[in-house]
Amino acid sequence: MSTARKHYDTLSRSLHWLTAIAVVAAFILGPEHFGRELRQGLDPATRWDIVTHESLGLLVAGLTLLRLLWRVVRPAAPRFDMPRWMHLAAQATHGVLWLLLLAVPVTAMLALGTENHPLTLLGGIRVNTLPVTPQSPIADLANWGEVHGVLGDMILWLAGLHAVAAIYHHVLLKDGVLRSMLSPRR
Ligand code: HEM
Ligand code: HEM
Repeated sequence: MSTARKHYDTLSRSLHWLTAIAVVAAFILGPEHFGRELRQGLDPATRWDIVTHESLGLLVAGLTLLRLLWRVVRPAAPRFDMPRWMHLAAQATHGVLWLLLLAVPVTAMLALGTENHPLTLLGGIRVNTLPVTPQSPIADLANWGEVHGVLGDMILWLAGLHAVAAIYHHVLLKDGVLRSMLSPRR
């Protein structure tokens, strides 16, 4: 197998690791109960942790859209010999991770819009009016803040499982799966 086919291309690797760092940082900075504080009238612009959480979350959304576009045109992803069930499990995990990478920021925007909170980002950016409002029909379908929090927890659990699987491949199966997401020079 050539080097090119044993490793993801440079852009896929860079976007993967940037996304992973941004997701974990957004989660760590996700201030506990800040939805409740917003509902009690807190101006989110006055809290660096909320502003950073929202900025990192939008960065994740942007990186994910870029990755999905790049997947269409990039060199083929590497394939490794493994039992069919393992290949299907990896594909299913990636599929759900992709869905969560999109659903977590989307539900955040729904939470902000339907609860009439502004979007506040680093650099003093503030968007008071979002495409969704408390009057939008979608507002009654769910408590979007709660849905966002649950999906935010789920992405961390699933990414953790996915990381454990990658380490299992490296340590026990020694099949190059983990190295495929690292630089070929390592
Ligand atoms: C990968 C990205 C993200 C992750 C992992 C994440 C994770 C979380 C978690 C776990 C909570 C619950 C915190 C708690 O109360 O214990 C939360 C709340 C919240 N996040 Fe995010 N988040 C992400 C992206 C975003 C984005 C893009 C925005 C806004 C543009 C945002 C805005 C909010 C808001 C407003 C709440 C409070 C929700 C409520 O209870 O009403 N988040 N986030
Ligand atoms: C929030 C954290 C993470 C997310 C959201 C995530 C998501 C993803 C996604 C969507 C893919 C498919 C990539 C593609 O086709 O371009 C992938 C591949 C991969 N990830 Fe992650 N990942 C995370 C963290 C990690 C960590 C911590 C490790 C290692 C310890 C890891 C190791 C890998 C490897 C080795 C692959 C390629 C191998 C394979 O096909 O399974 N990831 N990841």
